[in-house]
Amino acid sequence: MKRITILGSTGSIGRNALEVVEGNRDEFEVIGLSTHQRVELLYQQCLIFKPKMVCITGNDFPIELFEKLKQLEIDVVTGKDGLRELASRTDVDVLLNALVGSAGLLPTLDAIEKNIDIALANKETLVMAGEIITSFAKQKGVKILPVDSEHSAIFQCLQGENAKTISRLLLTASGGPFYDFSINELKDVTVEQALDHPNWEMGKKITIDSATMMNKGLEVIEAHWLFHIPISQIEVVVHQQSIIHSFVEFIDGSLKAQLGAPDMKVPIQYALTYPNRHYLQTERLNFDTLKKLTFDKPDYKKFPACVLAYESIKKGGTAPAVLNAANEVAVFYFLNKKIRFPSITKFVEQTLEKHREIQNPTIDEIIAADVWARNFVNEAVRKEEILQVSF
Ligand SMILES: NC(=O)c1ccc[n+]([C@@H]2O[C@H](COP(=O)([O-])OP(=O)(O)OC[C@H]3O[C@@H](n4cnc5c(N)ncnc54)[C@H](OP(=O)(O)O)[C@@H]3O)[C@@H](O)[C@H]2O)c1
Repeated sequence: MKRITILGSTGSIGRNALEVVEGNRDEFEVIGLSTHQRVELLYQQCLIFKPKMVCITGNDFPIELFEKLKQLEIDVVTGKDGLRELASRTDVDVLLNALVGSAGLLPTLDAIEKNIDIALANKETLVMAGEIITSFAKQKGVKILPVDSEHSAIFQCLQGENAKTISRLLLTASGGPFYDFSINELKDVTVEQALDHPNWEMGKKITIDSATMMNKGLEVIEAHWLFHIPISQIEVVVHQQSIIHSFVEFIDGSLKAQLGAPDMKVPIQYALTYPNRHYLQTERLNFDTLKKLTFDKPDYKKFPACVLAYESIKKGGTAPAVLNAANEVAVFYFLNKKIRFPSITKFVEQTLEKHREIQNPTIDEIIAADVWARNFVNEAVRKEEILQVSF
C-alpha cells in the first residue's frame, strides 16, 4: 500500500486524485487531507477515505465538525501551521500538493525535509523557489513527480532517455477561451467568459491563468526547474485540441509526444503509481472521429503574460516569485470584478519593473519578495480605483 496525503483534496486536482484512489483502493491508504473552506466536502471525503489527520486552513468552519471528525478518530489541525504539521508526517510515502498559489511552498519544503516524495500539481512552488526546492529534493533523495499534464507528458517521454540528449521542450497550450479574440475585444471580457475554459475543468485561479496565458509562462518556469533545461530551449506551441500534452525534441531531430483525451486523472495517476502504469477508466482517443490536430505560434502581443514569465526567469533570483505573487493578487481582483482582464498582466508587468531582485535568495527573502509584490499590487489597484472615482 502506498500511503498518501493530499493537500487541497477539495479542489479540482484533489477531487480527481481521490477518484484515482477510489479506482485503486488496494494500492493506496489515505493518511491526510486538507481544505481551505469546503469543510462539508472534506467531511464527506473523510467518511469515505478515513484519513488519520485533516487540516482546515480557512477561518470559517463549524465547531461541531471537530466533534464529528473526532468520532471518526481523525486528528484535526488548522491554519498554516497545521498544514505544515500535516505535510511533515513521516507515515506517508507520497504527498500530493494540490494547493493553489503560494500556500504550497512551505508544506512542500516540510515534506522534502522528511524525505517524502512529492507529486506536484502546485506549480507556484517551483515558480517561487525552483532552485531551492529541486536542489533540496536532490540532496534528500526525494522524487518530484509532475502532475501538470504538460510536465507529466515530458516526464513520460523521457522515460528510458538520457536527459543530456534533449534539444528542446515544446509545451502545448490550448490558447484558452480568448484565443480568437482581438486585443480590443479582450478589454471587455467578463469573469464568466474567462472561467469558461474550452477543454479543462479546473480551479478558478488556473482557469484565469490559462485565459491570460500566464499559466503557460508559469509552466515554462516549472519545466525549467523540473527538467533542468535552459529557458531558451523551452518553447510554447498553441494546440487548441489539448490532445498532445507536450513534446520533447532530441538532438537527432526525433520528437516524442504524449497524447490522450484531456483528463487530469491520467497524469495524477501516473504520478501516484510511478514507475508503474495502472488501468484507468477514461475516454480513449478515437482516430475515426478525431479529424485534425492544429498547431500555431502563440500571439504574445495579445497574451504578453507568458513573455513576462520568460523575462522573470531571465532576471532570476526573486523575480519569478514576484511575478507569481503579483499575478495571484491581480487574478483575485479580476475574479472580484475590480479590474479588467488586460489589467491582470499590466499589474504584473508594473510590479516586475519596480522590483529589485535579489539573486540566490533564501526562502525568507523569497517570502519577503512575495509579500512586497502583493502590497505593490494592492496599492496599485487602490490608486487606480481612486483615479476612476475622481474621473
Ligand atoms: N485543475 C487542474 O486541472 C490543474 C491542472 C494542472 C495544474 N494544476 C495546478 O494544481 C494546483 C491546484 O489547482 P486546482 O485547479 O485544483 O485548484 P482549486 O480547485 O482552486 O483547489 C485548490 C485547493 O487548495 C485549497 N486552498 C485554497 N486556498 C488555500 C490556502 N490559502 N491555503 C491552503 N489551502 C488552500 C482549496 O480549498 P477549498 O476547496 O476550500 O477552496 C482546494 O482544496 C494549482 O497550482 C494549479 O495550477 C491544476
